[in-house]
Amino acid sequence: MTHDNQQILVLGGTGKTGRRVADRLARLGHRVRIGSRSATPPFDWDDPATWAAAVEGIDAAYVSYYPDVSFPGAAESVRAFARQAADAGVRRLVMLSGRGEPEAEPAEDGVRGCGAEWTVLRCAMFTQNFSEHFLLEPVLDGVIALPAGAVTEPFVDVEDVADVAVAALTTDGHHGRTYELTGPRLLGFAEIAAELSAATGREIVYLPVSPSEYAAGAAAAGVPEEEVGPLTDLFTRIFDGHNAHLTGDVEAVLGRPAGDFADYARRTAATGVWRPLSRQGPAPR
Ligand SMILES: NC(=O)c1ccc[n+]([C@@H]2O[C@H](COP(=O)([O-])OP(=O)(O)OC[C@H]3O[C@@H](n4cnc5c(N)ncnc54)[C@H](OP(=O)(O)O)[C@@H]3O)[C@@H](O)[C@H]2O)c1
Repeated sequence: MTHDNQQILVLGGTGKTGRRVADRLARLGHRVRIGSRSATPPFDWDDPATWAAAVEGIDAAYVSYYPDVSFPGAAESVRAFARQAADAGVRRLVMLSGRGEPEAEPAEDGVRGCGAEWTVLRCAMFTQNFSEHFLLEPVLDGVIALPAGAVTEPFVDVEDVADVAVAALTTDGHHGRTYELTGPRLLGFAEIAAELSAATGREIVYLPVSPSEYAAGAAAAGVPEEEVGPLTDLFTRIFDGHNAHLTGDVEAVLGRPAGDFADYARRTAATGVWRPLSRQGPAPR
């Protein structure tokens, strides 16, 4: 059964997944409330006093935590938010999580135990990290330096994550399910660099580095000091090969195959976001 004309809260609704979830829901005729610091009313994970106004009158919510669901403090915040949402009458929560990340499971459990219907979306690394997140600058510089050795990862397209989230928010049959969302192909970072080179027409290379070299580079590139350690730990944990296998969950939910990295790369190159000149203002006449 499909649920029409719901009032749906989209946490992180201006971010990579949330923005796409919100757009899809609005197109389907749902009333969307964005939950983020810049929204009205504002929602701030660090200020629980902002949560009541965000959940008031809401039927279902998309829960994406910031900065990262596996970081210290996430579980406490997500659990408290989920309980408050369920107590306020929110009937269904769809939570974004990380795949193969035991550190994210306490936050997932907070959603599972809150009393509302729930679905957990455990996602592989997003393809959009290369165009909308921390790997954009490395792509523009032509060198992707990561402590990832020769590991392969089944990158998932955020467009697919959003489609699955919308299905779970608006149709029945997803309650109590923990989906593992991956793309259709395992790719090492050297292959990613080759795909990006082909899509952009520029040489982009992968440089395997040690965790400490990565941390030093991240700090030098301006990653906030308090995020450098957790981020480096996260990569050390996820790039050990344990996530190097595919699932069919995107296709099982959507009835079509997951999007391939090459399609993402072609589509994204056409937007111009990977043209280094776009960082330097308008081109000279
Ligand atoms: N990147 C990956 O490969 C990957 C893979 C699997 C899972 N994940 C999970 O994805 C989640 C992030 O989701 P995303 O990538 O869709 O979001 P995102 O692109 O990182 O966007 C962040 C969103 O959160 C909002 N935000 C920032 N600080 C906030 C705060 N203190 N309180 C409330 N909202 C805040 C931002 O809006 P304002 O600035 O207006 O507040 C924005 O809407 C993380 O939990 C991460 O663990 C990521």
